[in-house]
Amino acid sequence: MAAELALLVLVAWPAATAAAATVTGDSLLNICMDAKHHKTKPGPEGQLYGQCVLWKDNACCTANTSLEAHEDQSYLYNFNWDHCGAMPQKCKRHFIQDTCLYECSPNLGPWIDQADTSWRKERIRDVPLCQEDCEQWWEDCQDAVTCKTNWHKGWNWTTGTNQCPQGAMCQKFKFVFPTAAALCEQIWSGSYRYTPHHRGSGHCIQMWFDPAQGNPNIAVAQYYARGNAPPAPPLPVLLSLLPPALLTLL
Ligand SMILES: *[C@@H]1O[C@H](CO)[C@@H](O)[C@H](O)[C@H]1NC(C)=O
Ligand SMILES: *[C@@H]1O[C@H](CO)[C@@H](O)[C@H](O)[C@H]1NC(C)=O
Repeated sequence: MAAELALLVLVAWPAATAAAATVTGDSLLNICMDAKHHKTKPGPEGQLYGQCVLWKDNACCTANTSLEAHEDQSYLYNFNWDHCGAMPQKCKRHFIQDTCLYECSPNLGPWIDQADTSWRKERIRDVPLCQEDCEQWWEDCQDAVTCKTNWHKGWNWTTGTNQCPQGAMCQKFKFVFPTAAALCEQIWSGSYRYTPHHRGSGHCIQMWFDPAQGNPNIAVAQYYARGNAPPAPPLPVLLSLLPPALLTLL
């Protein structure tokens, strides 16, 4: 009896786990995080602005958010990119693109995590950024200046916008972030992960893409949402694990 029960469990197991993996995996696809400005569900947005236009077919941001993403000290977060003097335009465009990806992308589901802060319930963590997107961001910001490694925490907000805390020295990015990985991983406290994966590989999220070719991040989210659960071994493998005495019952 015990043996038959064990057999039943083993035989039923692969189908059950496969179904569970599909259910949890799919619920991570095509969703918006519960944060400050995100829509509750993604959908078409014909009026997206500037660098955010890539997401117009399906977006978690509104047209207003996309426009504000391009403003200095926008109403979105009152964040001042120029806290150590004007940020060069070639650097700023990466921060705008980072904001567009964060606000607009419906493909970050596999990396949504609890935030537990007053201004948002959810955040992203360890989004695997394509190597080229991170390297280019770092290259283009070599002449920019900042006083902090983690831009999420530790600012002086008494004036309503972020100012460098006392004692924090303004320095070129290359001294604050010695490598591209340090920039991408530390600036938003682990929101991104530096990866060796390349654009077009299907294994990393692209901050920049050509919308004429479709959104490459749809497939990347599917890969991580479904691929992270190890596939259930096929039935013959399971049967080979059974003790010989049990097999005679079949
Ligand atoms: C976006 O919406 C906010 C809040 O309603 C408003 O304060 C702001 O002026 C709007 N921005 C634009 C560019 O319309
Ligand atoms: C924060 O900034 C205000 C205004 O610039 C300044 O008076 C205050 O000393 C600063 N506080 C800290 C802790 O740096």
